[in-house]
Amino acid sequence: MPHALGIDIGGTGIKGAIVDTDTGDLVSERLKLATPDGGRPDDIVATVLELIDQIGGQTQDMPVGICFPAIVKNGRTMSAANISKKWIGLEAEKLFEKALGRGIYFLNDADAAGYAEVRYGAAEGVDGLVLLTTLGTGIGSALIYDGVVIPNAELGHIEIGGKDAESRMSYAAKERGRLSWARWTQRLQVYYTHLEALFSPDLFIVGGGVSKHADEFLPLLNLTTPIVPAVHRNSAGILGAAARATTDPR
Ligand code: BGC
Repeated sequence: MPHALGIDIGGTGIKGAIVDTDTGDLVSERLKLATPDGGRPDDIVATVLELIDQIGGQTQDMPVGICFPAIVKNGRTMSAANISKKWIGLEAEKLFEKALGRGIYFLNDADAAGYAEVRYGAAEGVDGLVLLTTLGTGIGSALIYDGVVIPNAELGHIEIGGKDAESRMSYAAKERGRLSWARWTQRLQVYYTHLEALFSPDLFIVGGGVSKHADEFLPLLNLTTPIVPAVHRNSAGILGAAARATTDPR
């Protein structure tokens, strides 16, 4: 039973738990702390330390995976849509490693969610191209081909009607605009039709907390590609980060 610690840093919350990476089950309670206002590096690192402290248990000897809401290239965070701009170009992996006093596996949050669905969820055993989108504070995306996650697809930032897609199609945009399910789904229709035209995927998976309400909006979409809710919603990032931490050859 390999255990690993998974931490999912998001624009509004930082979540963590201990994961049995063979089965994809959480073996501790899932804890969540609010993302500090402004999302600045030192504050986020301090919150992650606090979270690990609260999770407790024998985490000191476990592999640690941390996922983050930005492009992650060679351990550096290269974008910052819903967090402080101070992350751009920062050696974030090293920053966390220094604070935690050990090596970590560091990746984009939607890629972690994609990996969780490949290992333990809706993308398990699916051939061809799977596009996972997480509809939350922003829109995250994972491009998965024959079970392999191709990192750093940023399909939440494609431009539709001259606007950044996530600014109108994310779940936060639904809440900001107090849109009904039907009105929001009209926007999602435009978004997924666009992705369908660009990628001809074999399957869409919709993740993020809102996928627990999948019945309210997925049946309203008219697409040729099958579209299903993610199996792992709020825990997907935790699971994927922990799973990568145990399979990483480094
Ligand atoms: C970021 C992505 C991230 C997504 C979900 C977007 O704004 O650019 O890197 O995966 O939000 O957190």
